[in-house]
Amino acid sequence: MNSLSFHNRRDFVRLLSAGSVVAAANRLVPNFLTHAAEAEAGPPVISGLNFPEAPLSREDALTLPEGFEYEVLLRHGDLLDAGDLRYGDHNDYLAFLVAGDGTGWLWVNHENSALLPEKGLKADDVELTAEVLRNVGGSCLRLKRDAASGRWRPVPSATENFRINGLDTRIPLTGPAAGTAHVGGIREVIGSVANCSGGITPWRTFCSGEENYHEFFGDPEFKDEPLLRCPQYHRPPEHYGWIVEIDPRTREVFKHTALGRFAHENIAFTLTKDGRLAGYMGDDRKDQCLYKFLSRGKYDPAAGVANRRLLEDGVLHAADTVHGRWLPLHPDQSPALKAAGYDVPRICVHTRAAAKIAGATPLGRPEDVEIHPTTGEVFVCLTAHGLPAGAKHGLSGAVLSLREKDSDAGALEFTSSVLLPAGTDTGLVWQDNLAFAPGGAIMVTTDYKLSDPPAAGSGQEKFGNNQLFVALTDGPERGRIRRFAVAPRGAEFCSPTLSPDGSELWVNVQHPGEGHSSTWPNGPGGKPQSSLVAIRRRK
Ligand code: FEO
Ligand code: CA
Ligand code: CA
Ligand code: CA
Repeated sequence: MNSLSFHNRRDFVRLLSAGSVVAAANRLVPNFLTHAAEAEAGPPVISGLNFPEAPLSREDALTLPEGFEYEVLLRHGDLLDAGDLRYGDHNDYLAFLVAGDGTGWLWVNHENSALLPEKGLKADDVELTAEVLRNVGGSCLRLKRDAASGRWRPVPSATENFRINGLDTRIPLTGPAAGTAHVGGIREVIGSVANCSGGITPWRTFCSGEENYHEFFGDPEFKDEPLLRCPQYHRPPEHYGWIVEIDPRTREVFKHTALGRFAHENIAFTLTKDGRLAGYMGDDRKDQCLYKFLSRGKYDPAAGVANRRLLEDGVLHAADTVHGRWLPLHPDQSPALKAAGYDVPRICVHTRAAAKIAGATPLGRPEDVEIHPTTGEVFVCLTAHGLPAGAKHGLSGAVLSLREKDSDAGALEFTSSVLLPAGTDTGLVWQDNLAFAPGGAIMVTTDYKLSDPPAAGSGQEKFGNNQLFVALTDGPERGRIRRFAVAPRGAEFCSPTLSPDGSELWVNVQHPGEGHSSTWPNGPGGKPQSSLVAIRRRK
């Protein structure tokens, strides 16, 4: 596999060109990573394991290896324009779309709000409920390359900045379930919530996964009680749990019903060998499944955003990891679904039930899915893999490797194995987010529940605060791993992403102070704030 790794930064940034199908001699399938980048000189902040190991930490600090520093770029509540537009809470996914003229767009998901207590809000908490909904969704900001420093930075004063939120953004539904009885007959819903991780489409728009929507509006299939009880803001759960697409240039937003409804972590796009669009997605809930959407039509690089129609017509597949098969969730291709009376709209809205009827394998909470930039190997975090039934803590989790037959994303057969298990050998537990870096490296974050004192047998008890690792995926050192960063108390790292020029690693620090006391990033006496940081080498 060594010959398939990208050896230098120029190769890597070419492969990151999300807007075009890049010609790379050893690339098996084109795929679309977190941003379009410029090829530039200078060493990338992360390439392979080019850094000393960060120490384990239980401190209320962002701990980095010797020789690295960080800068806070955006904090929860920061003004995003001259009015009262504000950066939301619990920043999660982040992604860039940049142009060759030193400008671009930054997208950030806002998953939840520190104003929403674990036991929920009361029916008469009207203002607080509205504030929670205002704080979730996403922020879209102009990006600019600073002339003096050469660094890419968000432009908080830009008039083009905008938010989507859970309170009042109107979002059309597309695809087979739009307007059907399964969604109450409507074609437009209000708001987006629980925006966890995401992806970038080949036509250069952002995607955001609506994950734990049940915390906001319940889920009858799981008998979850909603945490928002205010009747004024009661909304049907079927309006949430979708992949949301955001076009930064037009501010258009869509929820694509063809991609199924579940606790969407993210979506990773690539093309099949015959040119169709493939989108891999995890359902982050215990005993739920891994999915792959295959479009009916083919991707046309010349058609730009008109390719969006590919997300409206195709077949969702769920993984049978026992037999290595993708099971089509379509009544014409699944006798079990036909016999159970499932038509396509019902499959789109009640995807979990359909996957189980078709025979898909329940997994240990599939979170981020990412595709190797040159080999097409698919990596999936299973955050609760191996967790004993009924247990809440433990040294659980895995990064699963999935290889499609003939390295074709359109294949219906695959093999899978665990690449990075949890445990003391790797230092990993409760693996959550993934992202590729140059040198055949993959970044892996952990997300275990934090409390003070740590729960017995928990990852926190063993390893301290949540962490960010880098592991090798290619060659004889495949699986070698090193700790790069440790989060402040109560926080997890979300969406590590190389800056457009590769000189910084941007990462969201989410919910410092959850289950703990923290004053990060403001220091002694300050309040904790979810924040976006840029990590770089000290000069
Ligand atoms: Fe929002 Fe599965 O993490
Ligand atoms: Ca996550
Ligand atoms: Ca998680
Ligand atoms: Ca989270």
